[in-house]
Amino acid sequence: MTFASGLAATTAIADLVPSGGTVALSAVTYYGVRNIFERMQARGRLHLRMVPPDDSAAVLAAVDGADMVWVESIANPLMVVADVPAISAGARERGAITVVDATFATPLRQRPLDLGADLVLHSATKLIGGHSDLLLGAAVCQDDAHADYLAAHRRDHGAIPGALEAFLALRGLRTLTVRLDRAEASAAELARRLEGHAHVSKVNYPGLPSDPQHERALRVLPNGSGSMLSFEVAGTVEQTEAFLARLRLLTHATSLGGVESLIERRARYVGDADIAGPTLCRLSVGIENVEDLWTDLEGALRAVLG
Ligand SMILES: Cc1ncc(COP(=O)(O)O)c(C=O)c1O
Repeated sequence: MTFASGLAATTAIADLVPSGGTVALSAVTYYGVRNIFERMQARGRLHLRMVPPDDSAAVLAAVDGADMVWVESIANPLMVVADVPAISAGARERGAITVVDATFATPLRQRPLDLGADLVLHSATKLIGGHSDLLLGAAVCQDDAHADYLAAHRRDHGAIPGALEAFLALRGLRTLTVRLDRAEASAAELARRLEGHAHVSKVNYPGLPSDPQHERALRVLPNGSGSMLSFEVAGTVEQTEAFLARLRLLTHATSLGGVESLIERRARYVGDADIAGPTLCRLSVGIENVEDLWTDLEGALRAVLG
């Protein structure tokens, strides 16, 4: 079911939690999603237990007595991969539903319902639309009762997507596979090169064999690790900002999943400052020539850091 935005779909799914209920919420999520839950908690609507998404045992320990587990996988901005099969099975045994925000993975790289989850969220604003020109969200579910609830919530809150946005999302879907294949191949190449770069202290990309998420990624994302990565510049915040300002092909901007590559120092937002290191740059790789992207990144790093 589509909604006017990913956050409108999030709001509807979050409302499935009964009054006074409990959500085991991944500590690594897009901060807009976390905001929705934190505001609901502040109003006394529900209780939150924050969980580390890459530690399934800790997630399941928090699920006892909870109504919903919410994980983002691949998660923003550290590219954490959750063990969706283990979490979904454990949550089901304990009577909780599992929701997976699969925006970064897209339906081409991860199919959470097949892995046991109850609901999936996609911000179609991102890779599905693919051209940074629409806002749209999708909630996908197994259960007819959930679908009926979401439909009523969408109607009551006026969260129906516009006709133009629906058209743009459908048009984007037609090229998703070729855009994603190209952007993912470039992301994997850039991750490899950045990992070996003297001015980069850390790279987060589950497709890298050295990434702590790699083994899990091979199981949960067998067709590829997507087009998003993040890395820490081995320098100060000022040097990182200077590096970003020097880029010519890449744009320092929010949002992601479009045909043009975007990069962002996430800690510039209060919402991400507690998750992202001060020099962490999130890179959404587009479909430009990978050598052009590398020339831009490498040239700007060298210009600032020598
Ligand atoms: C992982 C993730 N989920 C949900 C959202 C919210 O989607 P929308 O911008 O379509 O409201 C975003 C937006 O940045 C996101 O990155």
